[in-house]
Amino acid sequence: MLERIEEIRAEANAAIGAAASSAELEELRVRYLGRKAELTGVLRGIADLAPEERGKVGGAANKARKELEALLEASAERLDASELDARLVADRVDVSLPGAPPRAVGHTHLIARTTRQIEDIMVGLGYSVAEGPEIEHDYYNFTALNHPPGHPARMLQDTFYVRSHPEVLLRTHTSPMQIRAMETQPPPIFIVIPGKVYRRDSDATHSPMFHQMEGLAIAEGLTLADLQGTLLAMVRGIFGGEREVRLRPHFFPFTEPSVEVDVSCFQCEGTGTLADGERCNLCKGQGWIEILGAGMVDPNVLGFVADSGYDPERVQGFAFGLGIERVAMLRHGVPDLRRFFDNDVRMLEQFS
Ligand code: PHE
Repeated sequence: MLERIEEIRAEANAAIGAAASSAELEELRVRYLGRKAELTGVLRGIADLAPEERGKVGGAANKARKELEALLEASAERLDASELDARLVADRVDVSLPGAPPRAVGHTHLIARTTRQIEDIMVGLGYSVAEGPEIEHDYYNFTALNHPPGHPARMLQDTFYVRSHPEVLLRTHTSPMQIRAMETQPPPIFIVIPGKVYRRDSDATHSPMFHQMEGLAIAEGLTLADLQGTLLAMVRGIFGGEREVRLRPHFFPFTEPSVEVDVSCFQCEGTGTLADGERCNLCKGQGWIEILGAGMVDPNVLGFVADSGYDPERVQGFAFGLGIERVAMLRHGVPDLRRFFDNDVRMLEQFS
């Protein structure tokens, strides 16, 4: 029996010393010291031995067990440390490496860029930039802009109203800011107002939300010629120095006279015909493209802000309103206005 104990001890000692991983070590612990191990069986059977054998066998078996336990513990420490070292090497991260793949830097949306470009042109002409609320009162959107009751633009199918407050709506144009701006500062006033506007329209050239740029100039002695000169400078800034403008009679409730403004076509140089003899597709052979509405501010409108110093007998001026999407579509050949708001990065990246 003593010999067998010595054999087990020697065999286990060698195996534990040679173990290469903590998993292997755990297997050896179960094999040599576990519940079903031979040595454990010997210890359990001591009581059944002849009395004179018990002391010697028990002593040897206990000694062997203690030795193996100590050896297992020492080996576990050694293997844990070297496994940790190996893991640290394998998991090492070089924090100085660049991210992969490198992220593209974002850029402003084409509508924002077009807005800024027009603002820059107008600031160059001495205008300042103002912004106003998109949720507007009926008074500013319609009444003070000389829309008589029953005007078709006030109808429910043309405008988004707030159901619980019938006098509150999403502004249908940036023109209400004409009134708000005049209420807060006396003449002379030269401002542009970019912003979102809302209409119940939706197709390839109309979106329920779109952007306008309003212009307002009020001073002593302004005439339609000043409007034409200002618009000429603006469209040349946007579409190129060779452009001309053309004013056609029109109607808006808050301007008198009112005009629609065309710019000479920048694709066919106003001829209506392309170099290959084909009809110009941009201006449909007209040589002119409609781009905005404008007019001289109606004296009735100034009457609504007379208390702020706008005496229609003393000051006069002009206003214009331009669709920003329309300008961007023309400038960049975008065929469908809805593409601006789909947020398809393939489209957006073309205008970086
Ligand atoms: N507010 C008008 C529109 O949205 C445009 C406009 C602005 C016309 C200023 C004249 C003067 O259609």
